[in-house]
Amino acid sequence: MKLNFHSLIAACVGLVLTTTSAQSQTAPTIPHLEKQGTATQLVVDGKPFLVLAAELHNSSASSLEYMKPLWPKLVASHLNTVLATVSWELIEPQEGKFDFRLVDGLLQEARANDLHLVILWFASWKNGKSNYQPLWVKTDQTRFPLACSSDGKSMPIMTTLSDANRDADARAFAALMRHLREVDGKQHTVLMIQVENEVGTLGDSRDRNPAANEAFAKPVPKDLMDYLVQHKNTLAPELLKAWATNGFKTAGTWEEMFGPGKPASVELYGPDLTDDKKDIYWRQLNWASDEFFMAWRYSMYVNKVAAAGKAEYDIPMYVNTWLQQQGCPRPGEYPSGGPTPQVHDIWRFGAPAIDILSPDLYIDQFAETCARYTRNGNPLFIPESQAGLRGAANAIYAFGACNAIGYSPFGVDRFAGSDLELARAYDFLSSVSPLILANQGKGTMTAVLLDPTNATQTFQLGNYKIEAKFWTPPPWAHATNTIPGPIAGLFISTGPDDYIIMGRNLAVNFSSTNEAENVGIGTDEEGVYENGRWVPGRRLNGDEVPEWKALHFRDDKYSIQHVKVYRYR
Ligand code: DGJ
Repeated sequence: MKLNFHSLIAACVGLVLTTTSAQSQTAPTIPHLEKQGTATQLVVDGKPFLVLAAELHNSSASSLEYMKPLWPKLVASHLNTVLATVSWELIEPQEGKFDFRLVDGLLQEARANDLHLVILWFASWKNGKSNYQPLWVKTDQTRFPLACSSDGKSMPIMTTLSDANRDADARAFAALMRHLREVDGKQHTVLMIQVENEVGTLGDSRDRNPAANEAFAKPVPKDLMDYLVQHKNTLAPELLKAWATNGFKTAGTWEEMFGPGKPASVELYGPDLTDDKKDIYWRQLNWASDEFFMAWRYSMYVNKVAAAGKAEYDIPMYVNTWLQQQGCPRPGEYPSGGPTPQVHDIWRFGAPAIDILSPDLYIDQFAETCARYTRNGNPLFIPESQAGLRGAANAIYAFGACNAIGYSPFGVDRFAGSDLELARAYDFLSSVSPLILANQGKGTMTAVLLDPTNATQTFQLGNYKIEAKFWTPPPWAHATNTIPGPIAGLFISTGPDDYIIMGRNLAVNFSSTNEAENVGIGTDEEGVYENGRWVPGRRLNGDEVPEWKALHFRDDKYSIQHVKVYRYR
């Protein structure tokens, strides 16, 4: 056979294609993120995965013995994933000598209990402070320098201005990720990594050691400025406002660009912080230039650490945030430079190796915070939040309205096995997760969060207007549990006149976008999903569908109805 140059190339390409497609059929890919419409999903073993998780207390995973009685309770809580700390001090007790016995033990137990892990890398920082670096780092502050506050004193915080700090952390993290690739590269027990914990400078609005002061006095780096100019149309409104207020300059120092840093005369915990001011203050930016500068420093440091880990084993990585909030409204009262919504653009520029910027979401403004964390396509993963009834509602809302990848209440040791609200909600969610995952990012699904003080929401989904109401059933309806809320309702449009609705303590009313038309309930069926298959229960009608117009959802647990509506004049 005569083989010319082109047929040789074609043969080689054919070979590569065959090998690649054969490999993709056989080799399960490692956990990674994939876009589906406007959503970003976590894909595990070739399928999108909804992370129904909870986070252990900080010290729990440091002892396999302590963990032993906890595993069955985690299973009983219907989690599919546990968030567990792996600390620098325990894996590298001596410089360059790594000990992964604890990691291996966690993997073994997680697998035995059919659970996944998200590993939290507690290293240079945890809640703004540095407590998890090994003793050989803690005790050598010449080699591993600390940040300083305005009084010139060191703070117990590793400075971001030191390459030695960053590189030592990155080396240890790379070793951990190499080990994970070796022991978990095929099994995929570990889904994602949290890099550090709630980073940022606590106790002052910025680091004031000599190197930090010198960097702060310099112009904002040109590449960051170029990035902000290029992304001006999509910048976080908070950052845009600080920049606009100072004249949209395209060159200058941090203070010239974004306003004065912390005035020396203002005490961090001063008497000016009265209750009514707290309420106004917490959403405002105070000392933006200090916070933006720290965001740039932390993001670049964390990026080096994450990138060193990804070079070994490239699974999704996120950073979590101690949020600005009432009670700690000013940078330094919350860790300054952490990935709060106002500095997301700086983090995106500084830390491209980080896939997700995550909120630790304990504050009351749950929906508002989810909205601030999904701007510009940031995927939503909530690594810390509440459990119980509120947690159940939060999780359903986040998955249905914000295409969340995962939800995780904090401190599961306390409530595993006893929090029936969360366990039942997670059980319910795992039965409907294929449906939720199939609809994320497609515009066919939404959700509401309701409670007695925010009792009604109206929206359009598909061809109909929908009113969702917090509903307390009348006594004759065998109410079993009158709850103060909050609850969630999740709505999926499955056809021109068809909906799947999940909820609890919920009344749902349909109306037409054309005022001349009425809308009636054609059929209404309750049921459950078993192994992805709809198993119908009662056909609901009469008292269960009052006036044949509103759907009512039971008050003791989340349930599902399939409904077909119709129009009449
Ligand atoms: C937020 C931190 O990220 C957690 O590690 C833990 O300290 C909780 N706060 C405690 O509420």
